[in-house]
Amino acid sequence: MPSRERGGGVVPWVMRIAPRSLSRRYETVRRDMGMLLGGLLGRNRPSPPFAASPLAPRTLRVDAIRRETADVVTLVLRDPVGRAIKFSPGQYFTVLVSVGGETVRRAYSASMPQGEGEHAALLALTIKRIPAGRVSNFLNDNLRVGDTLEVIGPQGNFVVPRLAPPPQELVLVAGGCGITPLMCIARAHLRNELNARVSLIYGNRRREDIIFHQALIDLQRDHEHQLAVIHVLGEPPAAWNGRVGILDRHRVAQELDTLNPSPGTHYFACGPVPMLVEVRAALAARGVPETHVHEERFVRPSPLAQPTPCAGTPQAVTIRRGGVSQVIRVKPGQSILEAGLESGLAMPFSCTMGGCGACKLRVVDGQVDMDEPNCLSPAERADGFVLACVGRPRGLVTLEIP
Ligand code: FES
Repeated sequence: MPSRERGGGVVPWVMRIAPRSLSRRYETVRRDMGMLLGGLLGRNRPSPPFAASPLAPRTLRVDAIRRETADVVTLVLRDPVGRAIKFSPGQYFTVLVSVGGETVRRAYSASMPQGEGEHAALLALTIKRIPAGRVSNFLNDNLRVGDTLEVIGPQGNFVVPRLAPPPQELVLVAGGCGITPLMCIARAHLRNELNARVSLIYGNRRREDIIFHQALIDLQRDHEHQLAVIHVLGEPPAAWNGRVGILDRHRVAQELDTLNPSPGTHYFACGPVPMLVEVRAALAARGVPETHVHEERFVRPSPLAQPTPCAGTPQAVTIRRGGVSQVIRVKPGQSILEAGLESGLAMPFSCTMGGCGACKLRVVDGQVDMDEPNCLSPAERADGFVLACVGRPRGLVTLEIP
């Protein structure tokens, strides 16, 4: 017969006479099983380390709207009470928009570095309209000066590494709206490093698709000995005397041969995934060390994407953070992020669509299926990371918030 232990639990009599190490093992298993069962039954309550959200939204007011191209707009946002909006060039913010009664989130990179004085309260986000994109179309068409937006951030590690001395040469490779964080990095680096050399290789389909075309001309004029801009067009106009083609590994290699970057150069690439693969291949062929290659993936939800098959019954997932574990119950069709938030866990997240990496978790045990494509790099996958917002557990899983 089992008997009641001091803490109110139940211990089989045999464990009371078992060796101490065996009793401890029994206690651990009993506690874990209790948490798993509680998670499956939806009874667990969040532990203190999960109680506060690290990503609280702040309200910003639209100060100005600039049309960059037919499909791209820059929103200049201002903190209404003049508080500084701190971020590093290359980071992104998540905008929360209410569409049809649902709050939808999208991540957009800052395109201007943080200003000084009263300009420190400004944030410029550049947004490209995507076909059927609910948020990008709303922000392109409906927003007016004086409107307010809920914004989370900054987030992201796509930044120039803090080295002493700072890198004196940067090569930036952008495809389409991938120019946004790179423009911010270029502007800041040229402003802060008077002897730095920055080269931008920028691919677009047509001339009218070039974002910041005039701003780049102005930047080159202001930094004529520091900044080189190489435009590459897939469908150039008749009078085009620039490069023609796509940013594949051969084109990138050719441009790098011409630029002849120094050994300490840091390389930043942002754009569609196929372009990033090509850039990586070109850099690997030149022997550029991984530590000098930085990339940001732009992933958009595809209407053709197939959701990951999911289990037909609730799955228990243990989430660990800072030595504290919490078990949640992931219902069929739910993502791990949805289930975690529903359980009251303050899990990090931003875009909720696999495009930003803010919800990255490390798999300690078990297997997680993810919707594809998403923004995880091959290196992150190899390191055991998954995305909670597009991830679904396959059986029992233990995950860690890094
Ligand atoms: S929240 Fe952006 S990838 Fe998951």
